[in-house]
Amino acid sequence: MSKLFLDLGDGIELRPWSVRDAPEIFALVDANREHLRAWLPWVDRTAGPAQIAEFIQMARRRDHDREGNGIYVGGALVGSAGLSWSTEDMEGEIGYWLAADAQGQGLITRATRALTTYGFGEVGLHRVTLKAAVENTRSRAVAERLGFVQEGVLREAGMTGPGRVDLVLYAVLVHEWAP
Ligand SMILES: CC(C)(COP(=O)(O)OP(=O)(O)OC[C@H]1O[C@@H](n2cnc3c(N)ncnc32)[C@H](O)[C@@H]1OP(=O)(O)O)[C@@H](O)C(=O)NCCC(=O)NCCS
Repeated sequence: MSKLFLDLGDGIELRPWSVRDAPEIFALVDANREHLRAWLPWVDRTAGPAQIAEFIQMARRRDHDREGNGIYVGGALVGSAGLSWSTEDMEGEIGYWLAADAQGQGLITRATRALTTYGFGEVGLHRVTLKAAVENTRSRAVAERLGFVQEGVLREAGMTGPGRVDLVLYAVLVHEWAP
């Protein structure tokens, strides 16, 4: 299966990162540190481009996921979205982040819709899941906007910069998906 490249329309693209993208990615993460660390565990341990390059190398070695992709608007990096899955039960999970000033345009909704369609259509997944901290209203709104079903709350299952959080589990099944 080839690596992911999705044309999301209107000059928006999702494309896999290579290690040479690491300095640009780090600059965006660094400029959005407070915004991102509120919900993501890896921001505080990202001290420079080296940690980003390491993550990209790991993602490129694996064939069973599509993580480490940038969202580009008119060629400018604004965030990231990726899909990973278990080959045993064919359940996928989507993760994402955006620079603070790229919010409010539907970019992540668009990327999540495309990744879910890719997961069902190209990978052959049966379920696609999304987990968001109970208080992460913007992330939960992405799942709900796309018709993912709230299945429960996973107690203290998530890690963020400030500490442990309860996660809401959302999922959509292949026969429910109507993008
Ligand atoms: C979670 C996160 C990615 C959501 O970003 P977002 O911009 O709210 O989500 P989208 O890109 O889908 O945009 C939706 C917004 O654009 C608006 N919008 C505009 N055009 C739209 C369109 N065509 N389709 C959907 N929404 C559109 C929506 O109304 C919504 O705005 P609102 O919240 O003011 O109502 C972002 O807040 C973030 O990066 N947070 C920090 C990291 C994080 O939490 N990651 C997820 C961990 S689970």
